Amino acid sequence: MTNNIHDRFQDEVRTYLPADQVDQFLEACRMPLKKSITINNSKISSKDFISITKKWWWTLTPTTIIKDNNTFYIDRDNTDTALGRTFLHEAGYMYIQEVAAASSAPLLEVKDGDTVLDMASSPWWKASQLANMLLSLQTPWLVVANDVNPKRLRQLTHNLNRIWVYNTAVTRYNGFSFGKNMPNFFDHILLDAPCSGEWTAYKSDFALKHRKIEEINKIAGTQFQLLVSAIKATKAGGSIIYSTCTINPYENEYIISKAKEFFKDDIEIEALQTLNTEQWLKLDDTTFDTSKCVRLRPHIQKTWWFFICKIRKVNPTQATYTQPHKLSPKNQFTLTKSKKLHSEANARIKKSFGFELDPEKHLLVATKEKVYLTSPTFNNIQEHLHCEKVGIPILKIDRLFGFRPTHYLGNILWHLATKNVFELNDEQAQIYSESKNLPLEGLAPPGDESVKDYLLTRRGTWFSRTKLVKWEWKNKFSK
Ligand SMILES: C[S@@+](CC[C@H](N)C(=O)[O-])C[C@H]1O[C@@H](n2cnc3c(N)ncnc32)[C@H](O)[C@@H]1O
Repeated sequence: MTNNIHDRFQDEVRTYLPADQVDQFLEACRMPLKKSITINNSKISSKDFISITKKWWWTLTPTTIIKDNNTFYIDRDNTDTALGRTFLHEAGYMYIQEVAAASSAPLLEVKDGDTVLDMASSPWWKASQLANMLLSLQTPWLVVANDVNPKRLRQLTHNLNRIWVYNTAVTRYNGFSFGKNMPNFFDHILLDAPCSGEWTAYKSDFALKHRKIEEINKIAGTQFQLLVSAIKATKAGGSIIYSTCTINPYENEYIISKAKEFFKDDIEIEALQTLNTEQWLKLDDTTFDTSKCVRLRPHIQKTWWFFICKIRKVNPTQATYTQPHKLSPKNQFTLTKSKKLHSEANARIKKSFGFELDPEKHLLVATKEKVYLTSPTFNNIQEHLHCEKVGIPILKIDRLFGFRPTHYLGNILWHLATKNVFELNDEQAQIYSESKNLPLEGLAPPGDESVKDYLLTRRGTWFSRTKLVKWEWKNKFSK
């Protein structure tokens, strides 16, 4: 082990990095990464976010790596409150995301009418970016966020709820099955592939002990099968982004090269001019121009190492089945179609907060326990996929007390509310985000004693919900 970087990893990178870059690369790996965040633009503009955070001496510096204007390097004068505990994070206005990892999703050019699959989406980052991109369109089109791992899927569900992206459906399939069962179905697919995890492994004796070429070959086999499946499941004319956070070519250029050999003229590799396209590795045995792929490298861009390739599907895939084949459920999310329940849920929202849902943008679906808000475009996939979760739960169904609003109802719909909305100052907002109750003293008294549910805003934008219990506003942050 020399200077924190395992000798074995150093030997490995020497086999594929150009000799004149090895020292710089290893030196850059020893440096800490600069912190960066992505602003949740469907909830707040970057301009407003910057103006709020200036007050706390946050300095946000744009990155030139990403074409969307919502990822920034961040410096803070006062770091007493961890970034993840600030109310801007807790209330879902931003997420902490490394710049390289944030750079791939914006390369999918989504437009109105597109259905997008994030094939390996846990824990959440890129699925949230995609959902946000689609939320900015006229109709909130849907992202299917899939992952095979149930534990990681729970993290995904939690995070999608926290970030309030209601135009999402969560599925748990082996990614291999999409190509066979749903050929030519999605407009775009993001495959942020499982990889050998060098980034976490390169400093660890334990991880590197198990890092063998056979392991890399095994993961490369999975990556190739996932990519084949993704290409098959994409419509002709649609696009696929393949990315990994590995630096070796076996999980990257060679996977693309094999896919090109397999699909021949049915796919094209697109040059990614928006990002650095300087050729990095000279691989003579690949069947495409590797300079079209993007390599983000610690010693050049000061980011994680990251690989991205964009593939355009030119010709449709021949279907294996004559009828579309519905993928079988693992843990089905059973929806009730009761019209009565839907109209009662709508009535409850109107009574408490004075607005009605917009059928062009909002669809309610319900299980026995909860009512979920999603996009009407869910109807396009409902017949094809069994979901683990759809949209965001906005009402709980209580057999004794009827509907109870959740935190997320306010998250997504606060701007439509015409009553029971109360503005907090920054100090109250920080107290609230530390999970404390707010005494009613000094705050506005309720006009109507029968009203218990309130939506809280801060600086004219959504913050949280609360429930009036005696003389306190009960902390319902993230509940
Ligand atoms: C690099 S992570 C994805 C990170 C995610 N895109 C994000 O931005 O948060 C790769 C994911 O692939 C999932 N995975 C592994 N094999 C899979 C398979 N055969 N089908 C679907 N997902 C798979 C893993 O559970 C893991 O969550």
